[in-house]
Amino acid sequence: ADPDPLQDFCVADLKAPLSVNGFPCKPEAEVTSGDFFFDGLSKEGNTTNIFGWSVTAANVLAFPGLNSLGISMNRVDFAPGGLNPPHSHPRATETGVVIEGKLLVGFVTTSNVFHSKVLTAGQMFAVPKGLVHFQQNVGEGKALLFTAFNSHLPGSAAVPRTLFASRPSIPDDVLTKAFQVGNDVIDNIKSKFSS
Ligand code: GLV
Ligand code: MN
Repeated sequence: ADPDPLQDFCVADLKAPLSVNGFPCKPEAEVTSGDFFFDGLSKEGNTTNIFGWSVTAANVLAFPGLNSLGISMNRVDFAPGGLNPPHSHPRATETGVVIEGKLLVGFVTTSNVFHSKVLTAGQMFAVPKGLVHFQQNVGEGKALLFTAFNSHLPGSAAVPRTLFASRPSIPDDVLTKAFQVGNDVIDNIKSKFSS
């Protein structure tokens, strides 16, 4: 979890010309009710992409009222067959509730045990901080998930993008050794993520 706040709130001033661990507070006299409400999760995301999914974040960057409160949410939309690819959140434990559809939800522990379950509307899951996890739409139609984090900015490292689409790239030599395959396989995977 993020550090406890030292005051009721500290609505983020995202444009402040200084850098701290978090964001400086907007002057309290300028804070309005609007700072504590956010409708950015009300719209379906665009799932027209290679994974058939979309994440809309309500973190401190999108919803500055969350600054220093140690909490945030995502909306995750899935086309039929869509996948939220394996990823981890360096700064937060995640929980989620399925709103619509049928999702295979899973994570792998540091002992390399895979925990998974197929969930439908109203059912919840937990992903311990930092562990690699995913959700896949295994139902007939669309699926909708809301997730929550004990950080105002959980961060996300997606495994495919981290390994095969970093800038600059990880040398092929590292990846061929890590995955015990030839350059052709690595180049083929890298090509899927070049844009
Ligand atoms: C789901 O895993 C999410 O990060 O919202
Ligand atoms: Mn996640």
